Amino acid sequence: MIGRMTDVSGLSIGILGGTGDQGKGLARRFALAGHRVLIGSRSEQRAQDAAGDIGAGASGGANAAVAAEADIVIVAVPYEGHKALLESLRAELAGKIVVDCVNPLGFDKQGAYALPVEEGSAAQQAAAVLTESRVVAAFHHVSAVLLMDPAVEKVDLDVLVLGDDREATDTVQALAEVIPGVRGVYGGRLRNSHQIEALTANIISVNRRYKAHAGLRITDI
Ligand SMILES: NC(=O)c1ccc[n+]([C@@H]2O[C@H](COP(=O)([O-])OP(=O)(O)OC[C@H]3O[C@@H](n4cnc5c(N)ncnc54)[C@H](OP(=O)(O)O)[C@@H]3O)[C@@H](O)[C@H]2O)c1
Repeated sequence: MIGRMTDVSGLSIGILGGTGDQGKGLARRFALAGHRVLIGSRSEQRAQDAAGDIGAGASGGANAAVAAEADIVIVAVPYEGHKALLESLRAELAGKIVVDCVNPLGFDKQGAYALPVEEGSAAQQAAAVLTESRVVAAFHHVSAVLLMDPAVEKVDLDVLVLGDDREATDTVQALAEVIPGVRGVYGGRLRNSHQIEALTANIISVNRRYKAHAGLRITDI
C-alpha cells in the first residue's frame, strides 16, 4: 500500500452528483469501508433514494448541504454541468479537499474522444473556480460497473492522484486504498491532469474492443 501513511478513518465523504453510476459506485465502496457517505443531488428526493440503495452509512441531500457538511467532497457530475455547479458551491467548499473525477469527453460514431478545456483540464477548471479549496484529481479510470458489482470483492486498479498540495494528495491516496485491491498512486501536479482525463477515452476504446472493464497498473513501485 502506498497511501496508507495517512489516516482517513472517520472522515465523511460527500459526493456531488452521487445519484449517478460513478458517484453511487464510489459511495458504495466507501460505505462498505465504514465511512459516512453523503449523496448529493439537485433533487433531495433522488439523493435519498440513492442513499437508500446503498444502505447503511449513506444519507442523501441537496448538493449544497452535502458540500457544506462532508469532510471531503467528490465531484461526480458530467462535464457539461461541472463549472456551473462548482461556481454555485464556492462558499460551501472553501477550505475542503475537493476531489474531481470528471472526464471531459465527447462521443461520436468513432467512440470517445477528449474535449478541449479552456483551463487545461476539468480539475484545473475546478481549481480556477474553487480558489479557497484544495482541489485534487483522482478516480478517473475506475469502472462504476465494478464498483457496484457485489461479486467483485477486489478492484484491480491503481488510482492516479494529482494535485499541488502534498497533504491533500496523500489523503486522497489513502482514501482510494480503502477500496480493496486499489492502490492510490501520486500522478503529478494538477497541470498534468489533462492527459489523465483524456486517457479515459483510450480506456473506453479498450473496453469496447475487448468487452472489459479495464484498469491501469503502474509498475516498479
Ligand atoms: N461512469 C463511470 O464509470 C465513470 C468513471 C470515472 C469517471 N467518471 C466521471 O464521473 C462523472 C459522473 O459520471 P456518471 O457516469 O455517474 O454520470 P451521470 O450518471 O450522467 O451523472 C451523474 C449525476 O450528475 C448529476 N447531473 C447531471 N447533469 C448535471 C448538471 N448539468 N449539473 C449538475 N448535476 C448534474 C445527476 O444527478 P442529479 O440529477 O441527481 O442531480 C446525475 O445523476 C463524469 O464526469 C464522468 O466523466 C465516470
